Amino acid sequence: MKNQIYNIKKKDKQTKVYYAKTFKDINLSKIIGVDKKNILLIYDKKLESLESFTILKKQNFYTYSLKAGEALKDLSQFLSHMSAIHKKYSNIVTRHTHIVSVGGGSVGDFVGFLASVWKRGLGLTHIPSTWLAAVDSSHGGKTALNIGLEKNQLGSFYCAENILIIKDLLQSSSLQNSYGEILKISFLQKQLFSKLKNKSYQSDTFIWALLPSLVKAKYFYITKDPLETKEKRVYLNLGHTIAHILELHFSIPHGVAVILGLDFSLNWSFHKKLISKTAFKKYSFLLEPLVKKFKSKIKILSKEKATKLLLQDKKIKDQKNIQFIFFASNGHLIKTVSINSLIKELQRENYIK
Ligand SMILES: NC(=O)c1ccc[n+]([C@@H]2O[C@H](COP(=O)([O-])OP(=O)(O)OC[C@H]3O[C@@H](n4cnc5c(N)ncnc54)[C@H](O)[C@@H]3O)[C@@H](O)[C@H]2O)c1
Repeated sequence: MKNQIYNIKKKDKQTKVYYAKTFKDINLSKIIGVDKKNILLIYDKKLESLESFTILKKQNFYTYSLKAGEALKDLSQFLSHMSAIHKKYSNIVTRHTHIVSVGGGSVGDFVGFLASVWKRGLGLTHIPSTWLAAVDSSHGGKTALNIGLEKNQLGSFYCAENILIIKDLLQSSSLQNSYGEILKISFLQKQLFSKLKNKSYQSDTFIWALLPSLVKAKYFYITKDPLETKEKRVYLNLGHTIAHILELHFSIPHGVAVILGLDFSLNWSFHKKLISKTAFKKYSFLLEPLVKKFKSKIKILSKEKATKLLLQDKKIKDQKNIQFIFFASNGHLIKTVSINSLIKELQRENYIK
C-alpha cells in the first residue's frame, strides 16, 4: 500500500493519503489507530451492493447509512440525520469516537461537517467511493451544506486525518463526472497538463496511475493556504463560479458543471485577450468534445436568476463585484469583475437570452 503525507500548517494537522487496490488485507482500525468500538462508519447506502464495500463492512464497526446526492447536503437533511444518529448512538459516541465517511463528494461534505461539529469535533477519515471524491473533494477539508438552492453556504475547514483510496471501490462510479476536476487541476499545473495531451484521462487505468500526482497537485494549494485566507487556494475555484450556478439550477453533476465552467472562463479569457489563440486551442482541444456533449443539455437562464445565484457565491466582494479566475498567458489570474460584466458574458456565451 502506497501512501503520501501532507502537513496542513496553521491547522496543525497531518493528512495521510493511502492508495490500495482492495480492502483485502486492510485493517481500518489499525490504520486509524483507534479501537473498532470507537469507529462509526457513515456511508452511502448504494454501496451495500458492492463486493468491495462488503469486505470493509465485515470488519464490524458501528454503522449508519445515507442516501447520497446533492439533496443530502440540504440543511434540513442534516438536522434529521443528526437527530437520528444521535438517537441511535448517543450512548456510544464520545469525544474519542472516530467518524469514517464512505461515499462520494456529497457524503464527504456532509459527514465532514458532522464530524467537525459533533462533540465540537471528532476524528475523521474519508474513504472516497467516486473518482471525483478520490481526485478532489475528500482532500483539503472543505465541508459543506446547502441552504435551498444556495450551495455550500454552511461549512467548516476540517481536514481528515486519513484518506483511503481503494481502487475496487471506485470502479463502479462515474469516471466522466470527475473529468471537470481532473482537467481543472491539470490546467493549473503545467506538468500534469502535458500528461493529458490526448484523451488518455478517459481511462480509469490511466487515472488510477496518475491519481497520486493529481492529489499532490491539490495539496500544493491546500498546504500553502489551508483556510483560503491568501489568494493561493482561490485558484482551485477555476471554473467553479459558473459551475455552481449550473449545477444547482439544472441539477447536473458537479463534475459536468465544472467542464462548462472551465469552458466559460476560457472563452471569456480569450475574448478579453488574456491568452493567445495558441494557448486557447491547447486547452479547448481537451474541453471541446465534452462541452459539445453537455452544453446541449443546459437550458437558457434568466438574467434575474443568474444575478441572484451569483450574489450567493462565496467569492462575492460586495453587491456588485466578484472574484473570477481567468486563464492568462503565464498561468492564471484572479481578478475582481463586476456582476454586470459576468452577466454580459453569460449572454455572449448563450447561457442567458
Ligand atoms: N469539499 C470539496 O472540496 C468538494 C470539491 C468538489 C466537489 N465537492 C462536492 O462533491 C459533490 C459531488 O461529488 P460526487 O459526484 O462524488 O457526488 P455524490 O456523492 O452525489 O455521488 C454521485 C452518485 O454516485 C453514486 N456512487 C457513489 N459511489 C459509487 C460507486 N462506487 N459506484 C456506483 N455509484 C456510486 C452515489 O450514490 C450518487 O448517486 C458536490 O456536492 C460538490 O459540491 C466538494
